[in-house]
Amino acid sequence: MSNKIDLTVKKDRLERAVKRAKEQNIIIPTFAQMKNPALIPDKVKNDLKGVGLWDIAPRNLFRITWHNEPVVKGGGFGGVNYLELPSSLTGIKARIIVLVGKWFPTGAHKVGAAFGCLVPRLVTGQFDPTSQKAVWPSTGNFCRGGAYDSKLLACESIAILPEGMSKERFDWLAKVSGEVIATPGSESNVKEIFDKCWELRKSGQDLMIFNQFEEYGNYLWHYEVTGHAMEEVLKKVMGPKDQYRGMASATGSAGTIASGDYMKQVFPTSKIVASEALQCPTLLENGFGSHRIEGIGDKHVPWIHNSKNTDMVVAIDDEAVVNLSRLFNEPEGRKYLAKKGVPEAIISQLDLLGFSGISNVLSAIKFAKYYELGETDIVLTILTDSMELYGSRLVEMHQEFGEYSTSDAAEHFARYLMGQSIDNLTELTYADRRKIHNLKYFTWVEQQGKEYQEIMDMWYEQDYWTAVQKQANEIDELINEFNDRVGLL
Ligand SMILES: Cc1ncc(COP(=O)(O)O)c(C=O)c1O
Repeated sequence: MSNKIDLTVKKDRLERAVKRAKEQNIIIPTFAQMKNPALIPDKVKNDLKGVGLWDIAPRNLFRITWHNEPVVKGGGFGGVNYLELPSSLTGIKARIIVLVGKWFPTGAHKVGAAFGCLVPRLVTGQFDPTSQKAVWPSTGNFCRGGAYDSKLLACESIAILPEGMSKERFDWLAKVSGEVIATPGSESNVKEIFDKCWELRKSGQDLMIFNQFEEYGNYLWHYEVTGHAMEEVLKKVMGPKDQYRGMASATGSAGTIASGDYMKQVFPTSKIVASEALQCPTLLENGFGSHRIEGIGDKHVPWIHNSKNTDMVVAIDDEAVVNLSRLFNEPEGRKYLAKKGVPEAIISQLDLLGFSGISNVLSAIKFAKYYELGETDIVLTILTDSMELYGSRLVEMHQEFGEYSTSDAAEHFARYLMGQSIDNLTELTYADRRKIHNLKYFTWVEQQGKEYQEIMDMWYEQDYWTAVQKQANEIDELINEFNDRVGLL
């Protein structure tokens, strides 16, 4: 089995990484600190008092956590950022609770996935920031997170993303990443990103490619950090009669959905729902196509998707998502929601839902409707980013469709929220899960050079997934040793 994150130490290179960290004033947070910021040293908390959330400042590595105070500058740490969506908005009795990703540096939790891929290589010396370029293949937010981490380390980086992604992503990357490569196509053109990686590998440059779609550092970060954040929220909100029923997550790289693996170990009867765009229904029907739910890729099954542990697949119409983004953010849309009884405190926060966040909420609604969940049932989902990254899309829709009117709002509210049905979903049987797993063969073994034995182990070996789940403590020990050598604490 080769899925465990390689923690082999390379001494000479490690020396150089330590020296670079010292020069750049870098202290690396541990998984334990990202889960529980009470463990963060006061010195770091003090340093953060003058630092903006998105600043390229070394101490912001400690803000790679769900616990940031939701402010743009100088924030400390508190509970997990979450929101409970009321029935007046969701049209169902079940409680839908969303974790909020906007309050990570870069405005998306993907900076955590990038950290999860980079840090094990850095603290072992496998990645040498003084000589190697870091390559971040992505549909946008992962390479933004990676470019951010690279900039902190003063190492060169290459961000790869499809040319059709939002203007906000490109504008920000132009300032932060050494090189930005736009690959052909849009959201679901992941194959073109992989092709570019092969081209770079063959170019003879000294590179390290952090491929989130296959990196278990991405899986582990969400299993540990997002999983524990979900558990913490549940502990806070669960009444004596309440039951946690499951979580829904779009699968871009299938990192986020790893938090469901953690939650299922804590709540064994809970379910894991994978969602995707109806216009590209790869999990639902081996389908293909292009879509507008930025960040959730598809046309392949990510290597790190634990399909054997996935209970349901849901496909969401991107038309619902883009129209709801208007309902949630246009003045007439918000006025209409108020008329329908959605509390002002919720309406004013609906910009916390980016496109994939809206899609995740719709997936959670479908899941709840399918299982006829009621008011004592809780479903969790994730808002990876917020509308802060899609302002240009709102402007484009305004230009294309004109003013957003009350009748648009009424139609979208009735059709896409109250009228959300249980179409385009499948409760997975054992054979369905294996079908999804089998699709990995074509991308990963045939095209991307994975071992035949590993795809077999992934399905048949009991401890394939648990082996990586147990690695956080070992990585934390390496992080602590690295920080000791850097000597800034
Ligand atoms: C906006 C957005 N939503 C959802 C996802 C999917 O998350 P994951 O890659 O963890 O499956 C991504 C991934 O980049 C994203 O950027």
